[in-house]
Amino acid sequence: MRLEVEITGKTFKSAAGGTHEVLAPVRFTLQSGEVGVLIGPSGCGKSTLLRIILGLDHEFQGRIIRPPEARIGMVFQEPRLLPWRSVEQNVRLAAPDVTDKKLAELFRILELEAHRSHFPGELSLGLARRVALARAFAVEPDLLVLDEPLASLDDALAGRLRDEIATLVARRPVMTLLVTHSLDDAVRLGDRLFFLSPRPAHILAEVPIGIPREARDDAAIAAIKAGLARQAQGEQGAERSGRDVS
Ligand SMILES: Nc1ncnc2c1ncn2[C@@H]1O[C@H](COP(=O)(O)OP(=O)(O)OP(=O)(O)O)[C@@H](O)[C@H]1O
Ligand SMILES: [Mg+2]
Repeated sequence: MRLEVEITGKTFKSAAGGTHEVLAPVRFTLQSGEVGVLIGPSGCGKSTLLRIILGLDHEFQGRIIRPPEARIGMVFQEPRLLPWRSVEQNVRLAAPDVTDKKLAELFRILELEAHRSHFPGELSLGLARRVALARAFAVEPDLLVLDEPLASLDDALAGRLRDEIATLVARRPVMTLLVTHSLDDAVRLGDRLFFLSPRPAHILAEVPIGIPREARDDAAIAAIKAGLARQAQGEQGAERSGRDVS
């Protein structure tokens, strides 16, 4: 399975009647088993890009090739649970084939056991985000799209969930696209990092992470981050000297 993203542009109409360019050309592919990470400034167009990839927004230039039979799991930036359904019903509605055993395992991992019969209005944002993660995982997706799934969780829980995402990705050949503002999460989970420009977003740099995920211990993570910082400094230096001569 393979995802091909070939966007040539995306604009929104503003309320005042003007147009608002959100995406410049963005092209990349993602293979089964690969985790792509999108990193970019707030408002650059990441969530817009994900909505296009998921087929929720058709008003763009270019094309997206998704395997037609791909099962999709997604966690939106806002958890978007059905307010009149319990936590368990929210997950079961999205994943009707999920077994009791699998559901119990997911609720245990995501520390949701005590909240099964609660309604979304009774949950904190962090809990609601975990339910959204349970729902996405329960689907056993081929394409997993995560828009800042670990935001608003404490460090310890975010770390455990990050490990769970890594386990899920290792267990099944899922194509994963993750948006995060955390370089640490990006480096721990990603196979390829896409650094995006401010709006209209385009890919400034595509950085493969050569070390297998399971071999990335704290020392390896620190070394990769230091390498990225050096690379960014080098690019800024080149930009400055470019400006100096112009
Ligand atoms: N439905 C819409 N109509 C008009 N403009 C929109 C719409 N949705 C998003 N935008 C604009 O498109 C731009 C990109 O928004 P988007 O939500 O994709 O950013 P983002 O990179 O996900 O930001 P963040 O990191 O804050 O989540 C913003 O300027 C936003 O105001
Ligand atoms: Mg967003």
